[in-house]
Amino acid sequence: MVQQVAKESVGTKGNHKRTTIFTYTHTKRTDIEEDIRSLQLDSAEENNGVVNPGDARPEEVEVVDKMEEDSEEVQAVSQPVHPEPKVKHKEVSAVEDAESQQETEGNNKRHLNVVFIGHVDAGKSTTGGQILFLSGQVDDRTIQKYEKEAKDKSRESWYMAYIMDTNEEERIKGKTVEVGRAHFETETTRFTILDAPGHKSYVPNMISGASQADIGVLVISARKGEFETGFEKGGQTREHVMLAKTLGVTKLLLVVNKMDDHTVNWSKERYDEIESKMTPFLKASGYNVKKDVQFLPISGLMGLNMKTRVDKSLCPWWNGPCLFEALDRIEITPRDPNGPFRMPIIDKFKDMGTVVMGKVESGSVREGDSLLVMPNKAQVKVLAIYCDDNRVRHAGPGENLRIRLSGIEEEDILSGFVLSSVAKPVAAVTEFIAQLQILELLDNAIFTAGYKAVLHIHAVVEECEIVELLHQIDLKTKKPMKKKVLFVKNGAIVVCRIQVNNSICTEKFADFAQLGRFTLRTEGKTVAVGKVTELPTVSSSA
Ligand code: GTP
Ligand code: MG
Repeated sequence: MVQQVAKESVGTKGNHKRTTIFTYTHTKRTDIEEDIRSLQLDSAEENNGVVNPGDARPEEVEVVDKMEEDSEEVQAVSQPVHPEPKVKHKEVSAVEDAESQQETEGNNKRHLNVVFIGHVDAGKSTTGGQILFLSGQVDDRTIQKYEKEAKDKSRESWYMAYIMDTNEEERIKGKTVEVGRAHFETETTRFTILDAPGHKSYVPNMISGASQADIGVLVISARKGEFETGFEKGGQTREHVMLAKTLGVTKLLLVVNKMDDHTVNWSKERYDEIESKMTPFLKASGYNVKKDVQFLPISGLMGLNMKTRVDKSLCPWWNGPCLFEALDRIEITPRDPNGPFRMPIIDKFKDMGTVVMGKVESGSVREGDSLLVMPNKAQVKVLAIYCDDNRVRHAGPGENLRIRLSGIEEEDILSGFVLSSVAKPVAAVTEFIAQLQILELLDNAIFTAGYKAVLHIHAVVEECEIVELLHQIDLKTKKPMKKKVLFVKNGAIVVCRIQVNNSICTEKFADFAQLGRFTLRTEGKTVAVGKVTELPTVSSSA
């Protein structure tokens, strides 16, 4: 049994100034109204076109041969310029058998990225680790080794989490820091698991994980007192749900975990209590609970109601699916494999050329393709493509890839740059117009021109300044208010002009939702969520 771990870390952007002249085209009010619906309280509209898991994208991955460099240790690459910690990921790739299985089956199955979110200690890593164990990727011997190691660290019950928490720091503290990435398969689907940290200090890492995901597993602890702490104001259950929705996680599986705990004992009352408290909150966060959310009870630690349904003798009242079934059944809106190619770069390293990592948000890529690295417009050629651990000739939207490029040095790429089609490159701007929903300003501050925050948009982390408030949106009528707006407070929706120091790649939310939605954070707190509504018509000299 080989357990290989590659670490990935993403820094922030450097200096690459350009002169840009901006003009904006006027946006009609009806557009703004539509935008509001789709930004916050929308999800019903987003998911009209559904895809059958069986027939999704069978053509998009052509396997060539095995990846030769997957045990690579990747070093931290650039200096952070913000108080937020660096965004980090780590690769958890378990067993050789699973890789060779993917070589033969990879062509026929759809692929989904699942982010595990929820309050600290809810059981995300334990559940993720259990999934790998139940899907045959971790053997008993490895589990025994982890049991011993966890015991030595006086963290007996953490052994399952050790499958995902591979860093010493994570194991000692019992807390995920870097997003763990692993792969498993069910009958119809290849899944990439992204195990996000729950602790509030690592929210930027969670944002990075969620921004790569199609669906979310929201893990809630049913243990007495733990659900309550996570759900409190300031608890990460709330923040994660809101961020996931903003970052484009359109479907949620809400797993009520720790059902085996002695304070719960598979109690229907406790399960119902959590469901009834979570439902209004999920609705207010923009999820259509009937269509986009599925609740189910599990024990991540015991592996119950996960691969097979929980025994009736233990939980007589549960008639729904187990976790694997529920994951298999999730349907998401298909992406366009023929759209212009867009892959935000989350990390890069040197390996027989320059290798970039990221998730394809639009279009497809083939070996030999000529592409641009934006915003610095560097012409590059695709030498090789790796999907999970396999070399492939071609890959479509939604895939997590490593792409080896020629024509660019590793030092010239920063996280948040976008690998982009030459014919229709992604927009690169230093200002844009956006619609913001103000969540909670620090110390009840007012939000006005001159407000500074850290912008998180796809893989970009960049300081920004609100330079002009254009108009406020009436929360009742959802229409722009006539009165001139100088400042707004918590809860307001406002359209404003935002500037960044360095050119960033973005798109209008209406065109590429994943590249057009963002969060604003300051001093470790998410203060607003937003989406890009207008980009300047640019004439730029690089
Ligand atoms: P962070 O990464 O820090 O956000 O935590 P996490 O959500 O990944 O939680 P983790 O998997 O590290 O588990 C935290 C604690 O909860 C450990 O002691 C686990 O053994 C325990 N735990 C997780 N799942 C279960 C479960 O199903 N039942 C019981 N009884 N304990 C569980
Ligand atoms: Mg964890």
